[in-house]
Amino acid sequence: AWGAAAGSRRILLAGPRSFCAGVERAIEIVDRALTRHGRPVYVRKQIVHNLHVVQELEQRGAIFVDELAEVPTGSVVVFSAHGVSPAVRLQALDRRLQVVDATCPLVTKVHSEAKRFAARGDTIVLVGHAGHEESEGTLGEAPDRTVLVQNEQDVDRLEIDGPVSYLTQTTLAVDEAGRVVDALRARYPHLTGPSTEDICYATTNRQDALRAVVADADLVLVIGSVNSSNSVRLVELAHRHATAAHLIDDASDIDPAWLAGVHTVGLTAGASVPPRLVTEVIGALGGFGETTVQERQVAAETIRFGLPKDMRTEAGGRR
Ligand code: F3S
Repeated sequence: AWGAAAGSRRILLAGPRSFCAGVERAIEIVDRALTRHGRPVYVRKQIVHNLHVVQELEQRGAIFVDELAEVPTGSVVVFSAHGVSPAVRLQALDRRLQVVDATCPLVTKVHSEAKRFAARGDTIVLVGHAGHEESEGTLGEAPDRTVLVQNEQDVDRLEIDGPVSYLTQTTLAVDEAGRVVDALRARYPHLTGPSTEDICYATTNRQDALRAVVADADLVLVIGSVNSSNSVRLVELAHRHATAAHLIDDASDIDPAWLAGVHTVGLTAGASVPPRLVTEVIGALGGFGETTVQERQVAAETIRFGLPKDMRTEAGGRR
């Protein structure tokens, strides 16, 4: 079955790829919580949307739950990088849980904007994906003043009186979100938005990086889990450029049939993906024949986020 897949090929590595600063920080926070409090540490929802990260933390003593009701009273609970609504924070207080907050600072920024816009009386149009944890958390800041739109058709159906502002999920496709905001502005010319775009630097950079390799690739492989919004957006980006593309959790998901006739593989990984999985995929591709690896780096990422205040001075953590 591997016959057609055999052959020498080139791997075009998109850079930046893999872990963003918010994901690294969230994982570090769970690690330190485990060091400080011992097992188990509860985590509400997946800390970041990646199968491997979740499995590794489970092995170290994290217990992932969907709802706070599953967490025993008085226990330590970590809120995931995607953020939570004020209702969830209240519930944690009610259950006397010790909260450790791993919300990405760039998600917290969107929450602050939601509060500010709601306080001045705007109706907030949130561009995002229904049911995604981040959108649910942001919606929860002002549930009576916020409507979710997923696309331009949703914008056509809006009926809003009074001032309108918009916010977006941090992990959307930059070009698609831009069209939705344009449609909004066409309907509501006085529309106001966030002071800086909500789509985060990591999402933007990973899309720009893939755009720089997709035209030269016969096949794109995106490492990421199915529930990872920014990873799924990368697959869609490749498809919009009429390039075959697949989302894989790791090297074991590669179907040799995909490689038939493929000379150049574009390779990237979502913001929640450990870098070692990229190394493993490169190794697995090498199993089909001689490979050369070329990296195209469109941006340098130097951004790092500090830990929550009460974790900063502690010597704990992995190292
Ligand atoms: Fe934060 Fe963006 Fe990563 S919002 S968690 S830096 S994908």
